[in-house]
Amino acid sequence: MSAGRGSPAPVPENAAPEPGFPVELQRTVEQHLEQIRFDGTAATAGLEEAMRYSLLAGGKRVRPVLALATAEAVGRAPTDVLPLAAALELVHTYSLIHDDLPAMDDDDLRRGRPTCHVAYGEGVAILAGDGLFAEALRLLLERQAGPAELVLAAARELVAAAGVAGMVGGQYLDITDDGGADGDGLRELHALKTGRLIGASVECVLLLSGLDEARTAPYRRFAGELGVLFQIVDDILDVTGDEQSTGKPLGSDERHGKATYVSVFGLERARELAAESHAGAREALAEAGGRTAKLAQVADYILTRRR
Ligand code: IPE
Ligand code: IPE
Ligand code: MG
Ligand code: MG
Ligand code: MG
Repeated sequence: MSAGRGSPAPVPENAAPEPGFPVELQRTVEQHLEQIRFDGTAATAGLEEAMRYSLLAGGKRVRPVLALATAEAVGRAPTDVLPLAAALELVHTYSLIHDDLPAMDDDDLRRGRPTCHVAYGEGVAILAGDGLFAEALRLLLERQAGPAELVLAAARELVAAAGVAGMVGGQYLDITDDGGADGDGLRELHALKTGRLIGASVECVLLLSGLDEARTAPYRRFAGELGVLFQIVDDILDVTGDEQSTGKPLGSDERHGKATYVSVFGLERARELAAESHAGAREALAEAGGRTAKLAQVADYILTRRR
């Protein structure tokens, strides 16, 4: 493997915890991800190495932590939903590997390390992404405990969130410039490319728990608002962040002429819109009931994060 290439130092895997983030849930997720192995033969060991290289590079684990915090909110043990949470992180990691490819955002740094294609080559990186997506579904279907129809409902939501009416469709709009020219288009673009998978991190747990629509409507509103908030802050950090903290190159959006909340609204208005989305998310959560303290912590963290 050639993971060299004079890049900034990797974000240490035992980096100091972010204030206000539910670090105990993050630790539980990290430990669970570390023990996952992808069945294969000696001949495919290099593929598994590339998959684990990107998966275990020290991401924030926002999506799986949201899943565990949602479980707690609705009165179940967070560890009940670990296979589902891991599946969300595998799908997300696949989306990052493909997002960084030369044909997409062409970025060299991710999670403080050379991107998967820089370390292993483009062909292996494409397959590592494909592998993570498929293995995510396998993990969820094989290991997630619960009534079969509820596990299936969660799996359906996860693939829908990853699909054309979700992440991949949003990424298509992002690279073809077929969205985002105005504020409404941009919100839709963000809701698809990022919001849908963040939303699924909450929604899949509600489905797995068999909770009825009426009781969970505020949670769904919370999740929708949080997803858009997440990408607004990502756009802001692309301009104002620092590589050491974000672990990815600054200015990637501008280099590619991307429509972002900063390019469309300017930095100041983007910050106001982030604060509005955050307030909307917190209001929805206040209506939700349940043990929502950790979900509230995640929402606050997403607004104020530096990485
Ligand atoms: C980055 O996601 C890509 C977006 C969807 C904005 P994260 O900011 O969650 O990245 P990691 O998982 O912490 O590396
Ligand atoms: C990507 O958005 C969202 C994904 C679905 C991966 P960005 O291209 O802004 O994400 P970063 O900034 O590279 O993490
Ligand atoms: Mg992108
Ligand atoms: Mg990108
Ligand atoms: Mg970005």
